[in-house]
Amino acid sequence: MRCNLSMKTFIYIAVFGMITLLYLSLNDIKTKNDVLLNKRMESLENTMDKILRKLNNNNEIVKSNANSKSELKYILQWTSSRNVPFVYMGEGQKGFIERNCSFTNCYVTGNRTFLGDYTKFDVIAFAGPEVVRMTKHALPERRSPHQKFAFASIESSANYPVCSDKLDNVFNWTWTYKLESEAKWGYVVVRDANGKIIGPKVNMQWLKLAEMEPVSEELKEKLRKKTKAAAWFVSNCYSRSGREKFVKELQAMLKKYNLEVDVYGKCGPLKCSQSKQDDCNRMLSDDYYFYLSFENSFSEDYVTEKLLYGLQHDAVPIVYGGANYTRFMPDGIYLNARELGAERLAAKMNELILNPDLYAEYFRWKKHYSYYRRYESIETDDYCSFCTILNNEELVKSTSIYGDFRHWWDPPGRC
Ligand SMILES: *[C@@H]1O[C@H](CO)[C@@H](O)[C@H](O)[C@H]1NC(C)=O
Ligand SMILES: *[C@@H]1O[C@H](CO)[C@@H](O)[C@H](O)[C@H]1NC(C)=O
Ligand SMILES: *[C@@H]1O[C@H](CO)[C@@H](O)[C@H](O)[C@H]1NC(C)=O
Ligand SMILES: *[C@@H]1O[C@H](CO)[C@@H](O)[C@H](O)[C@H]1NC(C)=O
Repeated sequence: MRCNLSMKTFIYIAVFGMITLLYLSLNDIKTKNDVLLNKRMESLENTMDKILRKLNNNNEIVKSNANSKSELKYILQWTSSRNVPFVYMGEGQKGFIERNCSFTNCYVTGNRTFLGDYTKFDVIAFAGPEVVRMTKHALPERRSPHQKFAFASIESSANYPVCSDKLDNVFNWTWTYKLESEAKWGYVVVRDANGKIIGPKVNMQWLKLAEMEPVSEELKEKLRKKTKAAAWFVSNCYSRSGREKFVKELQAMLKKYNLEVDVYGKCGPLKCSQSKQDDCNRMLSDDYYFYLSFENSFSEDYVTEKLLYGLQHDAVPIVYGGANYTRFMPDGIYLNARELGAERLAAKMNELILNPDLYAEYFRWKKHYSYYRRYESIETDDYCSFCTILNNEELVKSTSIYGDFRHWWDPPGRC
């Protein structure tokens, strides 16, 4: 749109010049027949007015270019707006206004002709799970060099890989859980003791466990009252990561120590209803030593809210996923199931349960860090953030291209 500004200005000047010339020449002969000429001039001006309005059907946008605060940024959802994650964006400015975002001047629509031509949108966004299945013909045929094509996915690349080069050189931005995306769409935020957002990110500088404050007697006392080994809340029983198989192995290994994994939800014998989330959380916090934060698939940086169940409710997370977890947590506060394997994991769990002081060390982080969902604050809300980066002139102006998108997105060996 910005590119059109100077062109439009030129056209306006030309059209106004023509009107003025006509007006002057008509004025010369005006005296001859005032009434008739006045009418002709009126209709001429009306016609010019219509032409002008047509030329400038984006009047709003052009005018507000002078005032970037009120300038609307238009986002076109190329794929269905009914699917996750677009469904939560809301239509128009609604999603940004309702979330109280610091920038609300973004406008969302799925209507490709909303601005006349789709090359006029600031951003064309594509939902990952849908676009990886699209043929090249279903993508926009034309694009403006100034607009951003954005790949948006909160679903893992392992579940939605792109197994051809059809999406290479298509996207300028990505809006995903991957920590190197221009815009993030994730699950977890880490803050330091001052409440400052510090992660997750690729190069985290965590305090070493030995540098952290000791755990309070009060918390130690609480931890000593735990009676059960591990809980797992799960509703999707067949995953690409094979976590259900791993849990079976772990359960077998734990038998030796007379320990169990309690499986709640659709895939297990136990129930803890979603509507009583608080009760489930209290149970986790009071009774369980460990929580299984097992992802449904292995992809880089794909760490979901499952991690928070443990961290926020005093149960040590046992992670099973494709991420490098040092980007998310300090060492020594969790166990990594994939690294340990079922047998060593079971032995480690038993060791910690039998050593309350050793187990309590896993909670030293709590005086230094805290964990949240991203949507809990407008500072980290991923929908707000998207509108924020659209207001970042420098980022918007700079050219960026995901040339080798396939390799950027897919986990190695997935296709
Ligand atoms: C936005 O702000 C209004 C007014 O301060 C408040 O009532 C509302 O709950 C806020 N909404 C969110 C999602 O924070
Ligand atoms: C899309 O936008 C155009 C231009 O505002 C409008 O004429 C048309 O009715 C819209 N289409 C739908 C399906 O809303
Ligand atoms: C994880 O990241 C850390 C810090 O960047 C790095 O030292 C380590 O080698 C990485 N681990 C793996 C398995 O890639
Ligand atoms: C977006 O990507 C296209 C295609 O690779 C490229 O031609 C264009 O310059 C890029 N635009 C921006 C603003 O990054």
